[in-house]
Amino acid sequence: MDATSQRLLMCRPTYFAVDYKINPWMDPSGPVDAALAVRQWEQLRQTYLDLGHTVEEITPVPGLPDMVFAANGGTVIDGRALAVQFRDPQRADEAPAYRAWFEAAGFEMYDPKHVNEGEGDVLLAGDHLLAGTGFRTAHASHAQLQEIFGYPVITMQLVDPRFYHLDTALTVLDERTVAYLPEAFSPGSQAVLRRLFPDAVHATMADAEVLGLNAVSDGRHVVLPAQATDLAAKLRDRGYETIGVDLSELLKAGGGPKCCTLRLRQGKASK
Ligand code: ARG
Repeated sequence: MDATSQRLLMCRPTYFAVDYKINPWMDPSGPVDAALAVRQWEQLRQTYLDLGHTVEEITPVPGLPDMVFAANGGTVIDGRALAVQFRDPQRADEAPAYRAWFEAAGFEMYDPKHVNEGEGDVLLAGDHLLAGTGFRTAHASHAQLQEIFGYPVITMQLVDPRFYHLDTALTVLDERTVAYLPEAFSPGSQAVLRRLFPDAVHATMADAEVLGLNAVSDGRHVVLPAQATDLAAKLRDRGYETIGVDLSELLKAGGGPKCCTLRLRQGKASK
């Protein structure tokens, strides 16, 4: 299997905390070790560098504890960047910070017309854009995604509040294959997934409950939460190399490796 070298955007969790609750994983009364969060994040970053990827960093903003989840900063495909609009006011100020970064980096900018939480809910799988809805990203934004990026958009209806973003329920492994938790999707979306990806890897609830599907694949190596051992074994059976990382502190905010990582797709050649 061929690995594609990727350009990634990350945000150091300098101001990370669990101060509010906007998903079932978050418990503002529980302990969070912010220094450990930074060390775990640095290990994730180093893992990408060791795989030959390029990691860019956006400067974290005080008072925005979830800004570490760069996947929610935008959708960037073929040199175009769609900025985001968060559902929750606690995250609203992240949107202009990410937008300014994309603009300075020279991407062609588009502004969202509806709630759209970026790559948390929008995943490019081969020639299809899979777009989640049900909890965060509004269904109405899917038409805008198709108009801007020119890929057929497939709506994925999420039904379990623990898997509130598409990237908590489904991982793109390569151009042809995905891994997902069937129960996280409506019956119709499950049927669409079976039709589009007959060879997909089905994850178990145990894997999904440690956010095992919140993984980053370069087509050959899959970086995923270390606790997702069954999923890792299934992926190795399929010929992928798995790299387990421990992001225990960020998991307390409902995030894993993919949430911390935004793919910057420059042009057609690097999609
Ligand atoms: N606490 C954040 C939220 O609820 C976590 C975001 C995780 N990001 C992701 N791409 N799934 O919005």
